[in-house]
Order: sequence, then structure tokens, then C-alpha cells
Amino acid sequence: MPEPIKSLRHAACHVLNTPAAEEKVALTHLYYDLWQKNDVMSFRAEDEDALSLPTRPARPRIPELRWPRDMPRRGGGESISNRIALLHALAHIELNAIDLAWDLIARFGHGMPRDFFTDWVRVADDEARHFTYLQNRLNDFSSSYGDLPAHDGLWQTAIDTSRDVLGRLAVVPLVLEARGLDVTPDTVQRMQKFDDHTTAALLHEIYEDEIRHVRAGHKWFCHICQQRNLTPAETYQQKVRTYFKGKLRAPFNTVARKEAGLSEEYYQPLVI
Ligand SMILES: [Fe+2]
Ligand SMILES: [Fe+2]
Repeated sequence: MPEPIKSLRHAACHVLNTPAAEEKVALTHLYYDLWQKNDVMSFRAEDEDALSLPTRPARPRIPELRWPRDMPRRGGGESISNRIALLHALAHIELNAIDLAWDLIARFGHGMPRDFFTDWVRVADDEARHFTYLQNRLNDFSSSYGDLPAHDGLWQTAIDTSRDVLGRLAVVPLVLEARGLDVTPDTVQRMQKFDDHTTAALLHEIYEDEIRHVRAGHKWFCHICQQRNLTPAETYQQKVRTYFKGKLRAPFNTVARKEAGLSEEYYQPLVI
């Protein structure tokens, strides 16, 4: 049984300090339910003595984490090993996404309205469900999360933006998750072509949830810009140039991005 939770910040730190993936998932679902049901579970930034907020979340012993450049190249073909590599890479992204949602809550929650927490606790809950879908699918192929190496690039982005909530929102939901919207429909189609309708269906469900995550990113990015009297699109471009090392690459899924609030005026000026 987990220890009694004093605040949402405490809950967030508990997940971040938990190494085992399955336990992170279970705690995330538990705290999502508590937050949904329990109006007295407040954020309480002053609850500093409860648990510390780590720079890096605790992670399972495996997979081995490598620099992105040291990762083996992944083929896109039909073979089971290619599909395992894809599912494993996506499971790793989802595990990071669980931690990223809780880190956003714990690090940047002070002074935010209840709605902010409701949105991001739900995102964490979605990411935990996504991880389980992918883990189950890996199991169908007699594999499991941890069997392959994984890259550690995502958390570096979190560290770089650990003092800048607008930087964090610009890069994580509004560059990286938005990129997921661009590429996932092709992956779904590829899986259908391979007659792997189970993988296609789970990736499609994840895609639908991710539109909502980008929308939450845009909503809170605009909220904070408004508080600080900043223009959202210009501020986005400035933050992406500061914190995102790669380039924004066309083609974009302009329809899904627009549905999430991210119109072309945000990202087109960043395309080189
Ligand atoms: Fe996800
Ligand atoms: Fe997400």
C-alpha cells in the first residue's frame, strides 16, 4: 500500500521517485482516481517535507539508456523484430511522458488553478494507459519493455527547461507531442498494410488522446502568456529556438495541430 498522500505535489513526487514502470503506472491511475474523487486533495506547494522532486525521475534497471546517436537504426518493415523495436521505442516515450506530466505538476504547479492539475493528472493517466497498451502488445510478441536499449534524450529536454514553464510547454507538448501527431497516422496505415490491426487500433487510440495533450499544452501556454502579457506565437518561436536543438520538419498534420489549437502561425516561421 502506498503511504497516505498529503497533497498532489506529494503524489507527483511519489511517482517520480518510483523506479518500476508497472508501479509508476499503478500509482498514476490511483492518484488520478483520488484527484477525480477527492476535492480536498490540493496541490500544496509548501508540502516540501513530504518528498523531494528529483532532477531525474527514478527509472527501472533496464532498459539500458544510451545517447540518441548510439541507438541502433530502426527499420520500418513488417518483420516482428521491426515491430518490437517500434513498440519498445514508443513504450519508452510513454514512460517518459508519465514522468513529464507529473514533473510539470510538481515543478510548475504553484499558484495554478485547479483546472491545470485536472488537465495534467488526466494526461499522466492517459500516458500510463498508453504504456500498458504497448507493454501488452510487446508481450504478445514475447517481448517486454527493457529488452532493448532506449535513448535518454527526452529527459535532457526536461532538465533544460526545468526553470522555464513556457519553455517546457513549448518543447514537450507543442513540439514533441505535436510531432507525434504528424507521424502517427502513417504508422497506423503501415500497421494496417501489414495486417497488424491490433497495433493499428492501439496507435490510433493513442493518437486521439495525444491531440488532447497538445491542446492542454496550448491552453496553458496561452494562459501563462496572457498572465505575462506575451504574444503566444512569438513566445513559442522564441522558446523553441532557445530549447529545441533539432529542426521542425514538414510535412505537418495541420488538421490535427489546428484541432489542438496550434495554428500554422506558430510553427511555420521555424521551418528551415
Ligand atoms: Fe501517450
Ligand atoms: Fe501525451
